[in-house]
Amino acid sequence: MKFFIDTANLDDIKKAYKFGILSGVTTNPSLVAKEGVKFEDRIEEIAQVVTEVESVSAEVPPDALTAEEMIQAAEDLIKINGGDEKITIKLPMSLAGLEATRYLSQKGIKTNVTLIFTVNQALLAARAGATYVSPFLGRLDDISEDGVLLVEKIAKLFQIHNLDAQIIAASVRHPDHVTRVALAGAHIATIPYSLIEKLIQHPLTDQGMEKFASDWKK
Ligand code: G3P
Repeated sequence: MKFFIDTANLDDIKKAYKFGILSGVTTNPSLVAKEGVKFEDRIEEIAQVVTEVESVSAEVPPDALTAEEMIQAAEDLIKINGGDEKITIKLPMSLAGLEATRYLSQKGIKTNVTLIFTVNQALLAARAGATYVSPFLGRLDDISEDGVLLVEKIAKLFQIHNLDAQIIAASVRHPDHVTRVALAGAHIATIPYSLIEKLIQHPLTDQGMEKFASDWKK
C-alpha cells in the first residue's frame, strides 16, 4: 500500500515528502479553505514541492454541478504548473461526476472519484474509467458502519472483475485504520501529517533508544 498525504498545508507536505514515503497528495475544498489561500495557487505550490509523486488531486469546485461545468473546471485545473501530468481531477460521486470522469479518462486525464460510501458507487466509478476511487472509511465508522469492510469489499470486487482503478482509503483516522486497510487491499491510504507521526511511534522503540543512549555513555 502506498501513502498519499491528505492536506493542503505546505509545511506538512514538505516534511512528509522528505521521509520518502509519499506517492501523492490529496486536497479538497475544506482542506484548502483551512489554509486561507487561493485554490489554484496552492495546487501549483504543492505540485512544485512534490516533484516525484504520481498524483496531486485537485477537486472541481462544488458549485460545478453539471458534467460540462466539471469538465470546464478540470480543463483549467490541468493547466496548473504548466500542464503537470500528476494533477488528478477529483470529482464527486454523482451522475454528472461519472459523465465527467468518463470524458476526462478518455482524454488520458487522471481522475479520482470521491465521497464513495458503497461498493456499487466504487464499481460505477471504476467502470466510468476512474484512475482512483476514494471510499471515506472514518465517516462510515462515525455512523456505526464498517469503513474497513467497505474497502475490503471494493478490493475483492476489483480483483474479481479485473478493474484497474486504485482504491484510495480516505477519511483515515488512526493507526489501526492504516494497518487494516492495507490488509484489506487498499492500494493507497491518504492520511494527515499527524497520523504519519503516530505511525512511527511505539513506547518500546523510545525505551530501547533511551537504553542504547545510556549504555553508549558507559
Ligand atoms: O480524505 C478525506 C478526508 O479529507 C476526510 O476526512 O476525517 O474529514 O472524514 P474526515
